[in-house]
Amino acid sequence: MDGDDGKDDGDHDPYAPARAAFDRGEFESDPVRVAARLDAADPLSGFADRFAVPDDRLYMDGNSLGPPSDAALASLDRAVEEWRGLLIDGWTDADPPWFGIAERLGASLAPLVGADPAEVVVGNSITVNLHTLVGTFLDELRAGNGPDRDGHAAADGDWNTGTTPAVLVNELDFPSDHYAIRAQLRQRGIDPGEKLRVVESRDGRTIDPADVETALDAHDDVGIVYMPTALYRSGQLFDVARIAEAAHAAGAYAGFDAAHSVGAVPHAFDDAGVDFAVWCTYKYLNAGPGSIGALFVAERHHGLTPALAGWWGHEKETQFEMNMTYTPADSAGAWQIGTPPVFAAAPLAGAVETLREAGIDRIRAKSLALTDFLIASVDARLPEVAVGTPRDRDARGGHVALEHPAGERLSKALSDRGVVVDFRPPNVVRVCPAAPYTAFADVLAVVDRIEAILDSGAHEAYTVSEGGVT
Ligand SMILES: Cc1ncc(COP(=O)(O)O)c(C=O)c1O
Repeated sequence: MDGDDGKDDGDHDPYAPARAAFDRGEFESDPVRVAARLDAADPLSGFADRFAVPDDRLYMDGNSLGPPSDAALASLDRAVEEWRGLLIDGWTDADPPWFGIAERLGASLAPLVGADPAEVVVGNSITVNLHTLVGTFLDELRAGNGPDRDGHAAADGDWNTGTTPAVLVNELDFPSDHYAIRAQLRQRGIDPGEKLRVVESRDGRTIDPADVETALDAHDDVGIVYMPTALYRSGQLFDVARIAEAAHAAGAYAGFDAAHSVGAVPHAFDDAGVDFAVWCTYKYLNAGPGSIGALFVAERHHGLTPALAGWWGHEKETQFEMNMTYTPADSAGAWQIGTPPVFAAAPLAGAVETLREAGIDRIRAKSLALTDFLIASVDARLPEVAVGTPRDRDARGGHVALEHPAGERLSKALSDRGVVVDFRPPNVVRVCPAAPYTAFADVLAVVDRIEAILDSGAHEAYTVSEGGVT
């Protein structure tokens, strides 16, 4: 095992012996012992001490907002001190200088998504990044340029300018993504009612990738396929390479919302042929509330003019010549817009360092063991609760969707009993046992508390709200 380069040593699975005990049925007779064995075998167990999670809380909401690591707080403190000590000179004299913060942090994220350093940058938020990227690629299509054929034999490099491009999405997407795509279509005089093509779910929880392929076969006007890497509600994980291949075969660009997987699941965007992607840093990357967004643009698209151009995306060498015409940086950095918010970016430096030490492959292995353990516990002990997350490990992200008709009341009752989860309408309680700071014993304690609440009916005392953040 070598955490320093973020890689595992081969196929060794430290949780396998305990999982075998689990498969033999020892789990049902003595789950406490199985959890203890899993924790004892866990190479990441020491990492929990580096995160500020109160001792009296079971924090299962890292898929919404990750907790601060010591390193993230230290890198934020350092930026504050540099502001105090250096004032304006921090842009050039901070260690390292703030001027290159967005490119530097982007490069530090690149290994997590399987990209070259110049293909990733931080800036803005997911929604803003989606506006500029979808706008950019819609403009490319309208100029007659489809995805480049280089390296992707099936991709069609030409777009028929007589065809008004459509964007293919799915009905379980995060709503903000649809708002942004609709707006970008409208701004180009394209009716979203006609050209936002929405793949439907068969079961209300998941999207069958075959239905994406069928939609591409059925319509020849799709210019961008935009899908999540993982669905925000059920946590279904997609095969990014399969979707990108289908998009390219249909002559469409492949873009992804990777908010619910970066930092929990390793990605290989370059190998998969992804054209662009957006994600946040406040969930599994643990960089803090409202922390800076991140984006990936494949190298073959560098040099394009972003739809939302701004001076921070200008070619760096000449940015301060203050020319009135915009020369895009020859990297993903071009999709920045304005000055990077240093305090919304600074914690990411420490946060990523902690994840790098843990190693993304080890994080994924432990995450799957934790969600296996949670799903098996729910199956064995909570008959009124349905698991809405795919059981297939390859189709499972970092959290588990527990469905219960009184899901909102249940999540409130859990919160009052020290278990932090969140509720997503109509009936989903999302439980995220994030690998860097969650023990198997914690998962068991969560199931114990759900069982106690449901058995006693304690959740019935709670009222149902009319929306708002949970
Ligand atoms: C999957 C997904 N996409 C998009 C967003 C919107 O992100 P932002 O508020 O950073 O624009 C979120 C926010 O949680 C999300 O979970």
